[in-house]
Amino acid sequence: MKNILVTGGLGYIGSHTVVELQNEGFKVTIIDNLSNTRISVLDKIAEITGIKPDFHQIDLRIKSDVKNFFETNTVDGIIHFAAFKAVGESMQKPLDYYENNVNTLVYLLQEMRDRKLDNFIFSSSCTVYGQADILPITENATVKKAASTYGNTKQIGEEIIQESCKSHHLNAIALRYFNPIGAHSSVKIGELPLGVPQNLIPFVTQTAAGIRKELAVFGNDYPTTDGTAIRDYVHVVDLAKAHIAALQRLINKNNKEAFEFFNVGTGTGTSVLQVIKAFEKASGKPLNYKIVDRREGDITAAYADTSIANKELKWKSENTLEEALESAWKWQQQQN
Ligand code: UFG
Repeated sequence: MKNILVTGGLGYIGSHTVVELQNEGFKVTIIDNLSNTRISVLDKIAEITGIKPDFHQIDLRIKSDVKNFFETNTVDGIIHFAAFKAVGESMQKPLDYYENNVNTLVYLLQEMRDRKLDNFIFSSSCTVYGQADILPITENATVKKAASTYGNTKQIGEEIIQESCKSHHLNAIALRYFNPIGAHSSVKIGELPLGVPQNLIPFVTQTAAGIRKELAVFGNDYPTTDGTAIRDYVHVVDLAKAHIAALQRLINKNNKEAFEFFNVGTGTGTSVLQVIKAFEKASGKPLNYKIVDRREGDITAAYADTSIANKELKWKSENTLEEALESAWKWQQQQN
């Protein structure tokens, strides 16, 4: 049984990936510092899968703790989620973002190098493309200068991994996520935003639940069909399954390059107003919203060309937007 280390394994995408790993028969070891989640997620994972993963409360910024972990644990692969992820906050606290997102990656890769460990999956983001010139976005699109510190940490992360793959024995895949949404069908795990949500879907569900007065739609003067910005919303369980596909590709040595990267999205672009309509249909509740100015740093449109991921990873997103929104709504109601 292969033992997979999942850093940030109690976070939003991490917890869904741990469930899928266990469903596929992997043993899972989680490292999480609980900075943006709750320890109760561990029990929820156990309720869903019947297996409680090994858990280590470690802060990866403490290099000696990272070393200690690897001295006493053997792993067959690492899926590295642990990172800060708020675009706006990253502009206020750049050094915290570089420390948490870049240093921790270096410490993990140093341990992998020193112990000759292989198989590394990295949480990357479609933010590396900025506003792409051509839509849908293929993996061949230019990586443009990042618009935020957060985005820059993902670009730098990919470069660090690529160079590590060249200089020592390491095979790695970066998954460039589009917009993950939704919750597990058991309604036991989902997104747990702290404070006022920054992302669209948690704001939508909290508005429908009466926690927020109204949703502010950031701009309706974009050059799109209805004027609102377009994104590619992918169900978090589909996204989780992309990690299993990527891991199996590395373990089975089916990768074509030591470092590879793939888009993980649905391939469909949806505007903010279309999301609102789809949510109203999925939840049966009208949504209170108003149009306000554009949000600084937002791009007009981003959606994935997923043909390379479909072919190489043999992975395809399966859930519809409506299904994803329905699960997000169920999750929200459960929180109430
Ligand atoms: N939006 C609103 N109102 C809100 C929140 C969002 O209208 O209250 C709009 C945004 O303007 C955008 C869309 O909804 O057009 C999606 O916004 P999100 O904040 O949910 O997602 P982003 O596309 O801005 O950001 C996401 C991830 C980032 C990642 C980025 C890459 O949250 O981590 O994609 O493009 F870097």
